Amino acid sequence: MISTEAVPHTGAAETARLFNSALGAAALSAANELGLLERLRDEPAVGVASFCAEHDLHEESVVSICRALAAVDVLELTPDGQVRPGRLFATAYREKGYFLWLVRGYGHMLEHLADHCRLTNRPADPNDRTFVRRRGKYIALAGHDYGARFVDGHVEAIVNERPFRVAADLGCGAAGRLIDLVGERDAVRGVGIEIDEDAVRLARANVAAAGLADRISIVHADATALDRRPEFDRVDLLCSFFMGHDLWPRPRCRRVLEGLPIVFPSLERFLLCDTHREHHGDVRETPIFVLAFELTHAVMGQRIPTATEWLELFDEVGLRCAGAHRIGIPSSTIFDLRIRC
Ligand SMILES: C[S@@+](CC[C@H](N)C(=O)[O-])C[C@H]1O[C@@H](n2cnc3c(N)ncnc32)[C@H](O)[C@@H]1O
Repeated sequence: MISTEAVPHTGAAETARLFNSALGAAALSAANELGLLERLRDEPAVGVASFCAEHDLHEESVVSICRALAAVDVLELTPDGQVRPGRLFATAYREKGYFLWLVRGYGHMLEHLADHCRLTNRPADPNDRTFVRRRGKYIALAGHDYGARFVDGHVEAIVNERPFRVAADLGCGAAGRLIDLVGERDAVRGVGIEIDEDAVRLARANVAAAGLADRISIVHADATALDRRPEFDRVDLLCSFFMGHDLWPRPRCRRVLEGLPIVFPSLERFLLCDTHREHHGDVRETPIFVLAFELTHAVMGQRIPTATEWLELFDEVGLRCAGAHRIGIPSSTIFDLRIRC
């Protein structure tokens, strides 16, 4: 006799949820890129067929993406072929940058996770991270997205405490923050420093689109090996958002920090904002982003410093910490540093 009944087994529903949430992460990243999330932010319901026709998209694929998002409560499907925001839409919309960062920025690493663990596949130099393929453009775009939601308000308030003439941004990514800093202040100039070629291209295009090419320059350079240049001479405010950990290990970071007053001879203030290592108790309660940030950097052989390690290093190199402001990204702080004379 053939039985058509499913064989019940413990944990099957939870495993299915786990599987569907992995798919949901990829679907969320895609729906974001395709502009569907943006539409659903502005409209109560969107017809999938007309959305696909309007954007020249393969309808069956988009319908399946919507089903994957419905399975994780981000969207709701209606019987007449429309999608509506689901219970988790507002939160997912706010946090969509993290998904873009993970899926598009680190997708190749996730696919090759096991390969990267095998010692035979790893480079002899522990500081060589080139064996990992990251997508700089998407990491920059994602940083711009979650930065706008969870960082920029804090930065504006802190920056406004003291006037400045020229701002530099180490690891400027898409240059969004620099564009805000310069665009909102008539006499201010800016310089972005970025190592990734794709991000440099994106930053230059964004600066041009903002009409600020005469006041912001983007330098393609490695922040760990900077030399003095004319563009850096009048920089009095230095910023760095979410790349400070790339300066480590400690001896290298120490050397970079010690060299800042030489590379930027007019420097007065340094706002260093980064995610740091922090214990969150039960691993199941870890907030969004943290585990992925730790895992991706562990694979690249990067040990993320704690806030205490940062503070000890600032003290050692003569940077006075005038304030440490927690921001909306888990385990992340803006350190407001002053150059001691
Ligand atoms: C997580 S992204 C953050 C981008 C931007 N600061 C933001 O907050 O949106 C880190 C950026 O730092 C850049 N970066 C990493 N190491 C660097 C280095 N040694 N020199 C210059 N840029 C670097 C990366 O290419 C990337 O664009």
